[in-house]
Amino acid sequence: LRFFQIGNYLKGKKALVTAGGTQEPLDPVRYLGNRSSGRMGYAVAQALQEAGAETILVSAPTDLSAPRGVARVSVQTALEMHDEVLSRFEDMDIVVKAAAVADYRPAIQAEQKIKKDGSGRIIELVPNPDILAELGHKKKSQVLIGFAAETENLLIYAQEKMKRKNVDLLVANDVTKQGAGFGSSTNIVSFLFPDGRKIDFPKMSKLEVARHLVKEIADILGVKVK
Ligand code: CTP
Ligand code: CA
Repeated sequence: LRFFQIGNYLKGKKALVTAGGTQEPLDPVRYLGNRSSGRMGYAVAQALQEAGAETILVSAPTDLSAPRGVARVSVQTALEMHDEVLSRFEDMDIVVKAAAVADYRPAIQAEQKIKKDGSGRIIELVPNPDILAELGHKKKSQVLIGFAAETENLLIYAQEKMKRKNVDLLVANDVTKQGAGFGSSTNIVSFLFPDGRKIDFPKMSKLEVARHLVKEIADILGVKVK
């Protein structure tokens, strides 16, 4: 065996994970971005690979290197991520959307660097496609996992997203908590299921969260975890 594996209960399964924060260019030198580090998605890709799944990471820019044994496709924008994910979706057994996808992009991408002229500016934004919602409507046998990072009304917003996006499990976290969310190596999450079940986890490393998630994915697939 070339790569470190903890089990092989997902052997033969194909998994796709998105990670990182998309960047939406304003001009050749500037973009609109967000605070995602990519760590949660990379940990999920690692945990899926360790469980034996053939894993591909569709990643917006991060400082991280791809986990061992995981293939990586690099993207910058939400539209690029949309195309890379949609073109692979049919083949997949598992899709985890951990990326922080920009909801909007600048309406105009200037070809040359925008020059200052001393006056104020308004940036016009247009909506990006909701990749996860599209997958939710297209899905057949795929297990689909979404994330929701919130700063208020966590459970209400998360439950609404789970239904609207037709996911099999939603990982919800309150990013205002210490040791949770953006940039942190730990996270404090709850898993929400369409049947109303909820599992609350204490603070743990993102890799531990990822391993719990992979166990739930195996359970949804009806695979026995040894
Ligand atoms: N997501 C996506 N495509 C988008 C926006 C979000 O695939 N254009 C996915 C994220 O990867 C995540 C989930 O949807 O798995 C929830 O993202 P979030 O930003 O919390 O939800 P939104 O539907 O964008 O709602 P809002 O930002 O208004 O809270
Ligand atoms: Ca959003």
